[in-house]
Amino acid sequence: MKHILIVGATSAMAEQSARLWAARGDVRLVLLGRDAQRLEAIAQDLRVRGQAVKTLTYVLDFESAVAIGALVRTVTQVAPIDIALIAHGHLPDQPACEGDLGLAARELSINGVSPVLFAEAIAGAMQSAGRGALAVIGSVAGDRGRKSNYVYGAAKGLVERYVQGLQHRLATTAVRVTLVKPGPTDTPMTAHLKLGGAKLADVGAVARRIVAATDAGRPVLYTPAKWAIIMTVIRNLPRAIFHRMNI
Ligand SMILES: NC(=O)c1ccc[n+]([C@@H]2O[C@H](COP(=O)([O-])OP(=O)(O)OC[C@H]3O[C@@H](n4cnc5c(N)ncnc54)[C@H](OP(=O)(O)O)[C@@H]3O)[C@@H](O)[C@H]2O)c1
Repeated sequence: MKHILIVGATSAMAEQSARLWAARGDVRLVLLGRDAQRLEAIAQDLRVRGQAVKTLTYVLDFESAVAIGALVRTVTQVAPIDIALIAHGHLPDQPACEGDLGLAARELSINGVSPVLFAEAIAGAMQSAGRGALAVIGSVAGDRGRKSNYVYGAAKGLVERYVQGLQHRLATTAVRVTLVKPGPTDTPMTAHLKLGGAKLADVGAVARRIVAATDAGRPVLYTPAKWAIIMTVIRNLPRAIFHRMNI
């Protein structure tokens, strides 16, 4: 039986990924979130999507290092974690963050520090077990700071630099770490962008690529794939041109 841990299991990307893992059957899905009722509704749905699907749900404070460490110890007492996906995040209101240091701190914490603490705890457990596949969702926003969302981008940049170090640390082990960098995707996080007419990627397609990249232990996944090219251009634009762009 595969032991799969999903952090931020109520996220649309996480839920779609969990459905793919559940469909394989013979799996124990451990779902972490902050809303017990929503987690249980997702767990119920997952249990009917495959043969021998077991679920466990936990609610915890995603910003507490103590709670994160304790939760990962509890989960690994049952069995080593085969696969973990860290998916939580929040798209901040950038202008509001500029005028409110407390808000900026909370956004940096939930989008940057929190996923890194989960990754550190999970990677340590996987290293002790000698195996495992960990995927962490960053964002294309982490590739270059832009005026429209640099608080979020800074937090996702932190996640990227952390994952690079973790990949270096674990390179000679059987633990694989994947950094997922989605472009704009149709989920509740981007509902306001959709209303504004933005073209968003299908979350089911993004989840299929997340699951495939995690299975393959791919170091970095841009999804949809075109974002690898777009972000190469954005990263390499000379400052004189970049600073004239309204992005
Ligand atoms: N959608 C995009 O266009 C896009 C693009 C690039 C990267 N991403 C990243 O993809 C990941 C998945 O996002 P999604 O698009 O699937 O969005 P989503 O459906 O809105 O899910 C966001 C998730 O983050 C959780 N969350 C938010 N604030 C939290 C907090 N303070 N404490 C605990 N959990 C919190 C939410 O929990 P509740 O359900 O309890 O609110 C939910 O599980 C995130 O890391 C996001 O930054 C998304």
